[in-house]
Amino acid sequence: MPDGEWNALSAGTGEEGRESSPSLAVLAQQAENHFERHFGRPPRWLVASPGRVNLIGEHTDYNDGFALPMAIERYVVLAADQAPGGTPRIDLFSAALNQQQTWCPTEPQKDDLEPWSRYVDGVLRLVWERNLRFGALDVLIASNLPLGGGLSSSAALEVATATLAEAVSGHTLDPVDKALLCQQAEHDYAGVPCGIMDQFAVVFGQQDHLLLLDCRSGETKLVPLTDPEIRVLIIDTNVARQLSGGEYAARRSECAAAAKHLAVASLREARWDHLREQDDALSHRLYQRVRHVISENERTVRAAERMSAGDWDEVGALMYQSHASLRDDFHVSCPELDLLVELLQQQGRRDGSVIGARMTGGGFGGCVVALVWQTGMARLAQRIRQPYYEQTGLRPRLFTTRPARGAHVLRSELPRLGE
Ligand code: GLA
Repeated sequence: MPDGEWNALSAGTGEEGRESSPSLAVLAQQAENHFERHFGRPPRWLVASPGRVNLIGEHTDYNDGFALPMAIERYVVLAADQAPGGTPRIDLFSAALNQQQTWCPTEPQKDDLEPWSRYVDGVLRLVWERNLRFGALDVLIASNLPLGGGLSSSAALEVATATLAEAVSGHTLDPVDKALLCQQAEHDYAGVPCGIMDQFAVVFGQQDHLLLLDCRSGETKLVPLTDPEIRVLIIDTNVARQLSGGEYAARRSECAAAAKHLAVASLREARWDHLREQDDALSHRLYQRVRHVISENERTVRAAERMSAGDWDEVGALMYQSHASLRDDFHVSCPELDLLVELLQQQGRRDGSVIGARMTGGGFGGCVVALVWQTGMARLAQRIRQPYYEQTGLRPRLFTTRPARGAHVLRSELPRLGE
């Protein structure tokens, strides 16, 4: 996805290079004030939709495998009100860009829609097909989610839009359908062939829990992460990543081709003995892709189990193994991600403050996720920033989060008197 699409939402939010960020309550208040200044009246609806980070289980979702994501305490907030006139029409204002888009989602798609508003457009068209009705709407977007960093700001915006459409129309979608609809909007309207993990994490996120997601059945199992001493640390490499670029789609086709060779419906069904038997039939590259998917699925299920048992040493080891597999077999890492993981691992060896670390999301830039002990945090930040800057010339952005609640309505007011 080109940078501008992300910057359209993030520019001017003050996120660049800074770690502190307003809480959800403050962000919602800012969105409300901004809406009132821009549209001249308070918003009737406010919805919040978080980003996500994946602890382990990468490039497994589109192989029907397992992933272990969670929603994070960074959000897209939509403030909205009905506008005069019953015809569906959207006036969408990006607080970050000071940019407005107006279109009618029941008429043919406009060519000149800014790429960032296509997520909103796609979701509104799809919910309309499912008979969720809304008239003219004024909508403002605010966000404190670092964008372009592999934390699913696009899924956050899609799910925020679907949640707003539910509140306005008074109809609730089945949560699994809602996640699938948002994924479809991303495929069909933004041209990104993503899996299902992001939208599921944003819809089903629960405070203090990870989600063990079975991407074949769509089932989610909650895995508690409640130890107050443990923090989820996210470090943005500051290297922009592009999911709509060819590499992500190429990995998907390679996995599909390998599944065909192995005569299985998806790589979820592939077993080690299949792989050994088919060794000669597969190119080395496809062999590596399969090896990653089989081993990553095993690591993910195991990590969820060891986490529940409080076996942090093994959880950490599994995270490092996952990173190595993504780097060496799946080839989706980059030098900056490798450097951050290496620095974190060194620090873990030195003082035990780091439990485990790995790249998270699609790869080729974006973020590293680490589990860390709260007590070592201050020292850790210093030990990472300087060497990373010296070796890459880039400033990493660090922040910690707890697992957060998925998308939800913050305010839904009844029509005002006389309406
Ligand atoms: C991106 C996609 C997800 C998933 C990850 C890799 O984030 O949006 O569906 O495939 O890459 O695990």
